Amino acid sequence: MEISPINLSSQEIYKILTGSILPRPIAWVSTCDAVGNMNLAPFSFFTVASVDPPVLCFSPLVDDDRLEKDTLVNIRQTGEFVVNIVSHSLVDKMNQTSAPYPNGVSEFVKAGVTSQPSSVIDAPGVQESLVRFECTLQQIISFGSEPLAGNLILGNICHIHINPDIYKDGKVDVEALDTVGRLVGNHYTTIRDHFEIVRPKLLPDE
Ligand SMILES: Cc1cc2nc3c(=O)[nH]c(=O)nc-3n(C[C@H](O)[C@H](O)[C@H](O)COP(=O)(O)O)c2cc1C
Repeated sequence: MEISPINLSSQEIYKILTGSILPRPIAWVSTCDAVGNMNLAPFSFFTVASVDPPVLCFSPLVDDDRLEKDTLVNIRQTGEFVVNIVSHSLVDKMNQTSAPYPNGVSEFVKAGVTSQPSSVIDAPGVQESLVRFECTLQQIISFGSEPLAGNLILGNICHIHINPDIYKDGKVDVEALDTVGRLVGNHYTTIRDHFEIVRPKLLPDE
């Protein structure tokens, strides 16, 4: 079967993308608005964009009523955000913060998580998160203003917090970090079932 995306509705494209590109890691993004109200929301259109310099990216989509999400509005206003990593123990609280609370309502309070002042930027982190990346805005690439149009936010990592219990000999203990990934709809996965494949080495004549 072959499909041209121009013949699909945005919902149909969304279902193919989120059903095939998975599991997706989750950026739990904390921000402040211009007057200091805190905001926290999860985003699974998220990855590393660059290592040196270290850059993260995630994409808040335009919502059904063509409004920008609070996270995007806040980052446009302040130019900073924190990406908090979601361990399995935090998944219910993370999910709670995805509720469509009105602008100015703190998801930190609603989900019962503790805000932790950052070291370099004004946006706070999630104290319970075992890894937090403080970021300053590098650029926003907006793909349109219709519902489900993406706004790719690229942020330079300016400071990193790692709980020492999960960081040994320069490596993150991924079992202890115990992250979750998003599948489709309300479904998630853990990293508890994994396998190893050794990368091939080329012989001198290859
Ligand atoms: C696990 C998870 C991942 C999500 N990923 C995204 C995403 O990548 N992009 C997006 O626009 N919304 C995503 N959402 C929905 C937002 O979290 C939701 O719209 C939230 O209310 C936005 O909050 P804000 O308006 O405070 O920024 C996700 C929700 C969940 C539960």
